[in-house]
Amino acid sequence: MSAKIIDGKALASRLRAEIAGGVAKLKAEKGIVPGLAVILVGENPASVSYVTAKEKACAEAGMASREIRLPAETTEEALLEEIRRLNADDSIHGILVQLPLPRHISGQAVIDAISPAKDVDGFTPVNIGRMMIGEDCFLPCTPHGIIKLIEEAGMEIAGKHAVVIGRSNIVGKPVAALLARRECNATVTVCHTGTPDVAKWTRQADIVVVAAGRPGTLTGDMLKPGAVVIDVGVNRIADATKPRGFRLVGDADADSCGAVAGAITPVPGGVGPMTITMLLWNTLKAAGGECVASATPAGQEP
Ligand code: GUN
Repeated sequence: MSAKIIDGKALASRLRAEIAGGVAKLKAEKGIVPGLAVILVGENPASVSYVTAKEKACAEAGMASREIRLPAETTEEALLEEIRRLNADDSIHGILVQLPLPRHISGQAVIDAISPAKDVDGFTPVNIGRMMIGEDCFLPCTPHGIIKLIEEAGMEIAGKHAVVIGRSNIVGKPVAALLARRECNATVTVCHTGTPDVAKWTRQADIVVVAAGRPGTLTGDMLKPGAVVIDVGVNRIADATKPRGFRLVGDADADSCGAVAGAITPVPGGVGPMTITMLLWNTLKAAGGECVASATPAGQEP
């Protein structure tokens, strides 16, 4: 492994200290405590663990979180009614519906029902549209965190060629849009399941974002030496030697990519902590606050 490891946990910890500073300021000056409602329908184990981590992060930042756990049989109408209630609740500044939803519920109908002013995931058409035209909006959390990680790697994005593998609404499409915006100014190629020869594109890339949901999607032979690799994958691989019976791996083969890349995010500890951090960032913004520089030196947060 010659690549630098981009430490998402450390970057997240620094940013969370600044967010906590913003929360404390908002409380002291305006008496407002940012409130996030987290809705989980059903008991998908990965979703349960994400939601638990989001609530814990809220508490650590001094925010209030309201957990709404609904059974898997919940009807779409009942879920929409819950969202309408939260849209009208002044103590709630952000609403997050954990995806995926059970198959009988339309994810898009649910997202469309969230007030754009409380859409801290940045998933509603209004926020996505604003992002596309460069207006102030809630940026989607994982793509926003990815931009911060590339900057953390010390790479100047402007003028570089970025290849995104995957075209999901949550990661692939928005991160491609963000990288191509004037603020980043990258040249962007999007590869997906219909791309005949993905390696042809990744070998020309200075930055590769892999968000395909499949282990081994990116291997070292597909990389230009020195490229920055952002691995968005979180895949559970059965492993009897682990207490939980599985281990997590990304979409990139860590060993072969680490031998060729200049910098790479680990899984876990890369993109994941940044997704939650940018959710806190958006929730603070939704409550009318902004980050303030931390009094605690970087790396010494509690
Ligand atoms: N499922 C996987 N990633 C996300 C995310 O960022 N937000 C929500 N709401 N659901 C997800």
